[in-house]
Amino acid sequence: MSKPLRIGMIGYGFMGRAHSNAYRQVSQFFKLEHKPVLEACCARNEAKIKEFAANWGYASYETDWHKLIARDDIDVIDIGSPNNTHLEITLAAAKAGKMILCEKPLAMTVAEGEQMVAAVEKAGVPNMVWYNYRRVPAIALAKQVVDEGRIGRPFHYRATYLQDWTIAEDVPQGGAALWRLDVAVAGSGVTGDLLAHSIDTAEWLNGPIRRVTAATETFVKERKHVETGKVQPVGIDDACMFLAQFANGSMGTFESTRYARGRKNFNTFELNGERGSVYFDLEDPQYLQYFKYADPKTGQKIEGHLTGWQKVHVTNGEHPYMDKWWVPGCTIGYEHTFINALADFLQGLETGEAAQPDFRCALHTQRVCDAVLASAKSGAWVEIPA
Ligand SMILES: NC(=O)c1ccc[n+]([C@@H]2O[C@H](COP(=O)([O-])OP(=O)(O)OC[C@H]3O[C@@H](n4cnc5c(N)ncnc54)[C@H](O)[C@@H]3O)[C@@H](O)[C@H]2O)c1
Repeated sequence: MSKPLRIGMIGYGFMGRAHSNAYRQVSQFFKLEHKPVLEACCARNEAKIKEFAANWGYASYETDWHKLIARDDIDVIDIGSPNNTHLEITLAAAKAGKMILCEKPLAMTVAEGEQMVAAVEKAGVPNMVWYNYRRVPAIALAKQVVDEGRIGRPFHYRATYLQDWTIAEDVPQGGAALWRLDVAVAGSGVTGDLLAHSIDTAEWLNGPIRRVTAATETFVKERKHVETGKVQPVGIDDACMFLAQFANGSMGTFESTRYARGRKNFNTFELNGERGSVYFDLEDPQYLQYFKYADPKTGQKIEGHLTGWQKVHVTNGEHPYMDKWWVPGCTIGYEHTFINALADFLQGLETGEAAQPDFRCALHTQRVCDAVLASAKSGAWVEIPA
């Protein structure tokens, strides 16, 4: 029997659209008891949220998230608004006993994240953070390859997350479209926005990061603020690079910037181990590259003149999530990562095994982000508590 799950979506922007699409699609492709119902959406601009509600088929809308949370006909609060709203909305939603889906990064700081974890755990409400890249089939396959022992003892993890959209000095900061450049709203620059994704993926594949040393740069020091109209100092990191040591003894390098001319959303990682390696590139997202050096079971070296990297087209029924989509060879896209993530959340409600990353798991990513920013300030290595 189907169980309606009444959604209250906060935000109509990039993620408001990605999540609303997931709510509309998930029950068509995944056989699950819980069926999302687009009950209400919320944002402060009435004309825009009304139009958004009509476009996506929400039954109603609110212009104040407090009112959305106060409603009895909402089961799930979905936080798709900027980073400086995540704490307050979470505390109120948890108190009201709502399930909470929150966009990444979990919070502006570890101190905020700790309050959020305490609130959802005290209330006992199901929760998840939308680190959607875990649901790219090729990345989920990389996780399977690691778990099957095909990489063996890991030595190196290498991640990049590169964009190029803030190079021009006349890009302003703040306001609706450019809050990512305003430290008061975003919390940080590329560290919280882009590296948080790389860190989540890295820790999922290769275990916890124990210590980091980092450098950041802000190339354009002052920008006009959209809301005040004044030229103000820029408080975010435009670029960040850090070295990491993982608990399993391997080393990592992480690089992120919004100043890599030509790179739009260049999110890559490579993991090199004793028995093999994996490589992924979001600009070629249907593929996982795998280098097999030794048999995962026996450890026996594979000899031969054809040894080399395999480029696996991750579209077969036996690949993660792909049995829910099309026939082998037909690809899925960016939006499907949110549908896959939502399906995992709904399945977690049904099995009792919470979908990951939940708030507690995402708090660890926040700890790494805060340690990276602290190291960039002090120049010292910073330890991350287990
Ligand atoms: N998982 C991902 O890959 C991914 C991608 C993009 C953004 N994000 C995260 O999603 C969140 C939103 O980012 P976005 O790109 O969708 O931003 P956006 O600017 O496109 O949309 C933000 C929305 O929040 C609304 N909003 C702002 N303040 C509000 C308030 N006080 N009350 C109600 N609504 C409010 C705005 O009206 C807008 O509709 C951020 O935390 C961001 O880091 C995650």
